[in-house]
Amino acid sequence: MHEIIRQLEEKREKARLGGGQKRIASQHTKGKLTARERIDLLLDDGSFEEWDMFKEHRCTDFGMASEKVPGDGVVIGYGTINGRLVFVFSQDFTVLGGSLSETHAEKICKVMDQAMKVGAPVIGLNDSGGARIQEGVASLGGYADVFQRNVMASGVVPQISLIMGPCAGGAVYSPAMTDFIFMVKDSSYMFVTGPEVVKTVTHEDVTAEELGGAVTHTTKSGVADLAFENDVEALMVIRRMMGFIPASNREKPPVVPCQDPAERLDMSLDTLVPDNPNQPYDMKELITKMVDDGDFFELQPDYAKNIVIGFGRMEGAPVGIVANQPLVLAGCLDIKSSIKAARFVRFCDAFNIPVVTLVDVPGFMPGTAQEYSGIIKHGAKLLYAYAECTVPKVTIITRKAYGGAYDVMSSKHLRGDVNFAWPTAEIAVMGPKGAVEIIFREEKNNPEKIAEREAEYKAKFANPFVAGARGFIDDVIMPHETRKRVCRSLAMLKDKELENPWRKHGNIPL
Ligand code: HXC
Repeated sequence: MHEIIRQLEEKREKARLGGGQKRIASQHTKGKLTARERIDLLLDDGSFEEWDMFKEHRCTDFGMASEKVPGDGVVIGYGTINGRLVFVFSQDFTVLGGSLSETHAEKICKVMDQAMKVGAPVIGLNDSGGARIQEGVASLGGYADVFQRNVMASGVVPQISLIMGPCAGGAVYSPAMTDFIFMVKDSSYMFVTGPEVVKTVTHEDVTAEELGGAVTHTTKSGVADLAFENDVEALMVIRRMMGFIPASNREKPPVVPCQDPAERLDMSLDTLVPDNPNQPYDMKELITKMVDDGDFFELQPDYAKNIVIGFGRMEGAPVGIVANQPLVLAGCLDIKSSIKAARFVRFCDAFNIPVVTLVDVPGFMPGTAQEYSGIIKHGAKLLYAYAECTVPKVTIITRKAYGGAYDVMSSKHLRGDVNFAWPTAEIAVMGPKGAVEIIFREEKNNPEKIAEREAEYKAKFANPFVAGARGFIDDVIMPHETRKRVCRSLAMLKDKELENPWRKHGNIPL
């Protein structure tokens, strides 16, 4: 028995070493942790149950018969984050560059299948040279098996990707189909074709970092949600984020004890909106003053900044927050912000997270750049997402809610459950100046008359009471009581039930 145990330990030790000390040292030199070190930091101490530690590839071509490393370049299993079950796979770059073989893919599929059966999130730590070149189509098939599972798991269990090394070619499409992508600055990159191919085809000179690094994807492309300084920070933030989301679509998100009183008033909010309607203010001030303990977990903070998305808690229960940001482009809806918010609303809806929408929007962004790039189709994504969404929806209009953007931003007409307006709200087809220029065009050379008409329009429409008179607004509330009123609304909506008609699937404008 002693001998058997010794052999087992020896085998385990070999597997734990992955590609060997030299390659581990090289990984550390690059500022990267190993696959196992990452899992140790991600999961609660001692909670990791590893599977398939001894699994080996079956390839014999190109001298691969002698290149077998137990585990085959990916560490898989399950464990807990703050006591809650998660499944994890962590690619081991020290073993053949973390490249994906047929067996490596089988291991990833194994945790995904099990996560779906028990209803728990899948967290993928990606660090891979892509398809295992020596295996050819067997490896491509492995990728496709993972892709298929990504799609089947979408909206069923949360899927989170952390990119901690290379992720190139078709390999990018697995993370692309997960709910959130996080990247580490200077050590991770994602692109469909690398700098050399780019140079050959388009004659552009670009580094890997510029083409597909963490900063590029969190500021320019919007592919990734957050960029971190290093592996440790990335893993710690994922642990925090998991606290806002449920384990699966069968559950509600986890409620935590809350010390922040639901009835807390914040008098400073009464002066948040400036007197001048064209002066911006920071909508994040309202968010942090409204949520429990000012704790707001923002996603995509550096991309499409004219809309703010992220998680907070109200009376301990997670909510998704979508807010126009008057500080950037006056809070206009454009293509990027519509797509950013639409995908977030759909995540919240899929995973039973109520959506709180804060509105100050002068409309959709005008111009040829937007029209030629399809603002009609992309703006419709946000409209579609809100209209389809059945979780509790609470909306507060702080200032402008003009035109189609009024409809889109979780209006009563799109089944908003509780719609409030601050007294400063202006709910109309457009702002007074634009409106008067159109409906009183014949008076345009008479400044006195125009001023008079603008004043008339303002008095009639630039307020929340016309919408209130129709019941499109449930109440006009004082800014300082926003938290209290939202908490009460969400408590009332706790057991909301609403189902959309059966269909195979809708056809959201892509
Ligand atoms: C097999 C691979 C590999 C791969 C790296 N290695 N990528 N082995 N298949 N795809 C091995 C290397 O031979 C090396 O082995 C070790 O991993 C580390 O690689 P290095 O090149 O030394 O590391 P580094 O300098 O950091 O460069 C990393 C890299 C580079 C940029 C990822 O290795 C690279 O360009 N690899 C090929 C990438 C690629 O073209 N993949 C296929 C993409 S297409 P030793 O023994 O020396 O340590 C694809 C299609 C997916 O993925 C399709 C889905 C539909």
